[in-house]
Order: sequence, then C-alpha cells, then structure tokens
Amino acid sequence: MYYKDKVIWITGASSGIGEALAYSLNKKGAKLILSSRNSKKLEQVKLNCDNHEDTVKILQLDLSNTELLADKTTEALELFGGVDILFNNGGISQRALAVEASLESVRKVMEVNFFGTVELTRHVVSHMIEKGHGHVVVTSSVMGKIGTKYRSAYAASKHALHGWYDCLRQEVIQKGIHVTLVCPGFVKTEITKHALTADGTPLQEMGEAHKKAMTPEVFAEKLLPKISAGKEEIYIGGKEIYSVYLKRLSPRLLNKILMRMKVT
Ligand SMILES: NC(=O)c1ccc[n+]([C@@H]2O[C@H](COP(=O)([O-])OP(=O)(O)OC[C@H]3O[C@@H](n4cnc5c(N)ncnc54)[C@H](OP(=O)(O)O)[C@@H]3O)[C@@H](O)[C@H]2O)c1
Repeated sequence: MYYKDKVIWITGASSGIGEALAYSLNKKGAKLILSSRNSKKLEQVKLNCDNHEDTVKILQLDLSNTELLADKTTEALELFGGVDILFNNGGISQRALAVEASLESVRKVMEVNFFGTVELTRHVVSHMIEKGHGHVVVTSSVMGKIGTKYRSAYAASKHALHGWYDCLRQEVIQKGIHVTLVCPGFVKTEITKHALTADGTPLQEMGEAHKKAMTPEVFAEKLLPKISAGKEEIYIGGKEIYSVYLKRLSPRLLNKILMRMKVT
C-alpha cells in the first residue's frame, strides 16, 4: 500500500533498473513521472504501463545540465501537483584505468552520478519540506562501499553519494523526509554498454558478470518492500554483496581477494 496513489519521479526510467521500477510501481498503483534523456524510449516505457494516459507522464531531462534542473523540478511538480517519492536512479558507469581516464570522462561521470543527482534532490527536497513529508531514494552501488579496477570515477561518484545523502538524512528526518541509499550488486542491464572508456566513449559491450546477474525485474521486486519498510541502506545482488561486510571486518583481506580476482 505504501506506493498506491503516490507520485513517484524516477530518473533513468528509460532502461534497466529504472524501467523495471516503473513497471513494478505502475502495478502497485503509483502515479509516475519518467525521466531520462531519451524521450522516445520513455514513451515506450509509458505505453507498456497500465492505465498510462492518467497515471504516467514523461519529463525529458539530462542530469548533466544542472542549470536546468530547477525548472525541470517546477515542471515535474505541476504534472500531478507534487512529488511524494524521488527515485534518483539515472547514472553512468566507467571502464578505464584510473591513470588513463581523461579528466573530461571523470567529470562526466561525476556530473551525472553526483552533481546532477544532488542538484535535482535539492530542488525536490525543498518542496517536500514545505509539504512536511517525502521520501528520497538514490541508486548508489556496491561500488559506493568498495573499490575495484577500472571503476575509479564511478566508485568515487557513488562513494560521494553516501556522504551527501547520509548528511541530508540527518538534516531532513525531523521534517518528515526519509532518505534511502540503494546499493545494487550486478544487475543484468545495459550499464556496461554505456560505461565510459578512457577517452569518454561508451564501451558498447555487456560485462560478463552482468550477463549472469539477476534481471532488473527481479531486482525491483526485491527492492520495493525494503524501501517501504523504511530501510536507510539496502544491498541487493549476488556474492559481491559480501564484499561490503568484509570491508567492515577486514579491508586488507578484501583488497587481497579483489587483487587476485578477474575484474572486467
Ligand atoms: N546494473 C548494475 O549492475 C548496477 C549496479 C550498481 C548500480 N547500478 C546503478 O543503477 C542505476 C541504473 O542503471 P542501470 O543498471 O539500469 O543501467 P542503464 O540501463 O544503462 O540505465 C541508466 C539510466 O540512466 C539514464 N541516464 C544516463 N545518463 C543520463 C543523463 N545524463 N541524464 C539523465 N538520465 C541519464 C539512462 O537514460 P538515457 O540514456 O535515456 O538518458 C538510463 O535510463 C545507475 O545509477 C547505476 O549506477 C547499476
């Protein structure tokens, strides 16, 4: 019942986890605002939803155009008269050695995953404070808790989210606003195809671990009850999730294991 009739704004709704969340939340009776850069794909996601004319709206945006996100928030608020839950899910990954990745590609990852996400959240939370309630969810990653090869900027952007959203939680909890950080392990989406290589061009290949991972539909079904239960940080995935706990117990041991592992 948590999601029924709630207005839920999902970024990164055109594919993967965001798309699966849209279908799951649509079945649970939510009103949806779907955002990403590709409005054609968003229209297709909308068409796949039940009763879409009344309950699903499209709002095209690019998270890296941070100066436009205040106006985008105003537009989003007008679509259904407010936003109850913001799902900050849009993001890009990286596949490049730290020393080889151009600064421009590093900035691009930070721009989308951190600055754009934070800027959108700031505007939406101002509105939630006025209303006296709201829920902000952000898709981090296991890479928000540990580091491996080829993902330095990605891991940095996701680690930064933990710092920012943990502080935000302390500031807004008394105002009726909940903050949830979601840390997926491998999920079978196109994230690695879009991952930035050293020169900033997309990898265009699906990672081996992702090919064998859980589908975004299964992921969304596991995730939604945990969010409605009010969890502050959520880990969902395969064996890779244990790395988060091992990092707490013995970071040195985790590093030794990761150094020997084949990481793609
Ligand atoms: N799949 C995994 O194994 C995994 C693991 C851990 C964390 N995650 C996180 O899960 C989230 C969703 O990723 P996914 O796996 O579902 O990958 P995906 O299928 O590539 O989806 C990424 C989404 O982000 C949107 N996006 C990318 N750049 C954007 C921008 N500049 N402005 C607005 N939207 C943008 C994309 O839409 P457009 O191209 O239409 O803009 C797309 O809808 C990401 O934050 C990712 O870091 C994924």
